[in-house]
Amino acid sequence: MPRKLVAGNWKMHGSLTDNAALLAGVVSGAQGVNCDIAVCVPFPYLSQVQQVLSGTPVRLGAQNLSEHAKGAYTGEVSAAMLKDFACAYVIVGHSERRSLYAESDAQVAAKFVAAQAAGITPILCLGESLQERESGVTEAVVARQLDAVLAVAGIAAFANAVIAYEPVWAIGTGLTATPEQAQAVHAFIRGRLAQHDSAIAANVVIQYGGSMKPGNAAELLSQPDIDGGLIGGAALVAEDFLAICRAA
Ligand code: 13P
Repeated sequence: MPRKLVAGNWKMHGSLTDNAALLAGVVSGAQGVNCDIAVCVPFPYLSQVQQVLSGTPVRLGAQNLSEHAKGAYTGEVSAAMLKDFACAYVIVGHSERRSLYAESDAQVAAKFVAAQAAGITPILCLGESLQERESGVTEAVVARQLDAVLAVAGIAAFANAVIAYEPVWAIGTGLTATPEQAQAVHAFIRGRLAQHDSAIAANVVIQYGGSMKPGNAAELLSQPDIDGGLIGGAALVAEDFLAICRAA
């Protein structure tokens, strides 16, 4: 079983002042917690957060990257730029990027490859909408999203990747997948990877994301195929984030 990873996705929240207070709380509580911990912060704060986290067990991540290495892509940020700030992780294919910014499966796959080429571990987000769940196509959607990356990156790439199952209907809504619902999809994802390589499938971290809170984290994290969490709202409150880390 892989070591659990709890990562905060701050989304578009924060300020220099707020970050300093939040990180002070997270860092002081992170000592001795028995899981890997990361925070994925907005680009302008990478430098600030890199400095605060230096010498602590908490790792730094970003929330997006360009699939391109360099060039005329105004407003974009490359993997090499993230590497300059010692990012260990980058989220790729978050559902908000897919739905609000029309990122395609192919683009997400290209971003996944770009991250790994720079030595950054991608956190690949997969998940179905409420309408897709209600139409019974959850597995088909997750398989399509996963297969698009497998086709480009290959199974070996998943030895150095994290997957986050985030049902879109559970993100920021207060609706959480039940532990059984989440476990079923996590097992499906692991099984699909195992068709290619069972050892890689057994070792890949599959996080759950979607209204994970101190009150529901322990039950979700006790499921056999749930190896951590990708935390939105609760990652903005140090005590809540740390409570989830301790549950892991
Ligand atoms: P919430 O925890 O706020 O539901 O957000 C989950 C998420 O999207 C993490 O990437």
